[in-house]
Amino acid sequence: MASKSVHLILFLAVLSLLLLLPLPSHCTDPGPLQDFCVADLESPLFINGFPCKNPSHVTSKDFFYDGLKKRGTIFDALNVNLTQVDVYAFSGLNTLGMSMNRVDFLPGGLNPPHNHPRATELSLVVEGKLFAGWVSTNYILYWKVLTAGEVFVIPPGLVHFQLNVGEGRALFYAFFNSQNPGITIMAEALFDSTPLIPNPVLSKAFNVNDTIIELIKSRVAALYKSS
Ligand SMILES: *[C@@H]1O[C@H](CO)[C@@H](O)[C@H](O)[C@H]1NC(C)=O
Ligand SMILES: *[C@@H]1O[C@H](CO)[C@@H](O)[C@H](O)[C@H]1NC(C)=O
Repeated sequence: MASKSVHLILFLAVLSLLLLLPLPSHCTDPGPLQDFCVADLESPLFINGFPCKNPSHVTSKDFFYDGLKKRGTIFDALNVNLTQVDVYAFSGLNTLGMSMNRVDFLPGGLNPPHNHPRATELSLVVEGKLFAGWVSTNYILYWKVLTAGEVFVIPPGLVHFQLNVGEGRALFYAFFNSQNPGITIMAEALFDSTPLIPNPVLSKAFNVNDTIIELIKSRVAALYKSS
């Protein structure tokens, strides 16, 4: 009897604690609990984010990154160079809930359909002409052709792409409300995962035969192998 009521009281206490906790947000990083927490990327601890480097060893250099000064020079098979300035590249971003990318395009370059599972993206075109689009969960394509000084917003997690439709090069900067937005390229996720998704799954989903699925798998693997 006594032990039963103790259990009940414990259960009610845990339940009321859970109800008092703030609801977790699903599309933005948690807020910082101190001024900064420069990531210790070498730490053996695995937590949500990264443990902090000892604050007494932190200097101005930890809040500085100069890797975006130069135009990307090594282009992938799709004629794009992506420089990611996330927490892995810039440890000062840890816990600050922001990051950015520089994306350079040769003529005809394509940033292929992909999503960022943990962030909203704000893209600012600074050179050239880009056809940018994203698809809502109702499968509506929202798109715009952007030139220098123009901005496009991509809601969190939605599939999007940018294609250089100008004569010359193009460049845009993307800003994210996450230190680690993540990226999933649709073609690779479906046709070049490890291990591969079995053919019957893909042939049924795409309404084509195995021969076509095998062809796409080999083409996708060849395309993304270099990157
Ligand atoms: C983009 O270009 C820079 C500078 O040439 C290079 O260091 C970087 O590896 C390139 N990025 C990719 C993804 O190839
Ligand atoms: C697979 O589908 C393509 C396109 O419909 C067709 O040309 C080909 O003959 C099919 N291959 C097999 C093995 O059924």
